[in-house]
Amino acid sequence: MSTAKKEYKRVTVKSLIEMKNNKEKISMLTAYDYTMAKIVDQAGVDVILVGDSASNVMAGHETTLPITLDQMIYHASSVIRAIDRSLVIVDLPFGTYQGNSKNALDSAIRIMKESGGHAVKLEGGSEISESISRILTAGIPVMGHLGLTPQSIYKFGTYTVRAKEEAEAKKLKEDALLLEQLGCFAIVLEKVPAKLAKEVAESLTIPVIGIGAGGGVDGQVLVTHDMLGMTHEFSPRFLRRYLDLYTEMSNAFQQYIKDVKSKDFPNKDEQY
Ligand code: KIV
Repeated sequence: MSTAKKEYKRVTVKSLIEMKNNKEKISMLTAYDYTMAKIVDQAGVDVILVGDSASNVMAGHETTLPITLDQMIYHASSVIRAIDRSLVIVDLPFGTYQGNSKNALDSAIRIMKESGGHAVKLEGGSEISESISRILTAGIPVMGHLGLTPQSIYKFGTYTVRAKEEAEAKKLKEDALLLEQLGCFAIVLEKVPAKLAKEVAESLTIPVIGIGAGGGVDGQVLVTHDMLGMTHEFSPRFLRRYLDLYTEMSNAFQQYIKDVKSKDFPNKDEQY
């Protein structure tokens, strides 16, 4: 049963702000390929994130750092070909926007032009404000990302909850406000205390989408392969698994192998 307060034929960045004003929670999931994006879009999710988590999920890297701009464009253009309704946001990968705002603008333009994505997401606060402002001058919508920012994993050292200490919480609140003032249309808050996330969401007019940030924010995002239970090695507290696809798929593969070996497959109705 849908709990949407208003039907959107196509979700835009403006729709997300409207949803926040209407107190309708925003649903967001990742996708990196055509087939998955088609199912996610047809199910009615509001936002599809072509996350740089593709580096882990699709390519098997330990971190999100190795994925390239060309690879992100490949994933995003596959997703764009599948969707009818969802807003598609594409991560700018590590090394394509930090420290040089001209580089940031060029990277964002390549994403928009070559993949057809609708907006970009960047990790960080005041350190990347110049890059955010320059991308916005080209009319490209920008989503911010604060809290646990996996592209900075070597600075943090671990994937544990961020902003538990007062100083880091203060910096996060200042950065969130700055991102809104710069013109970001929304912010992802990853793995921060629920109380802090709620406070940030209530203090901003733009939507705050949480992952491991509790229920007091304006929407939720999960990595699709994790929520479907396709991945096993990763079990954070915030992850709700809606299926155990790893086991389901593994059982199907084992049955197929058995059927081939026993000559049960193909039978006479499965041939020409
Ligand atoms: O890359 C990603 O999937 C993300 C989400 C975890 C928010 O940034």
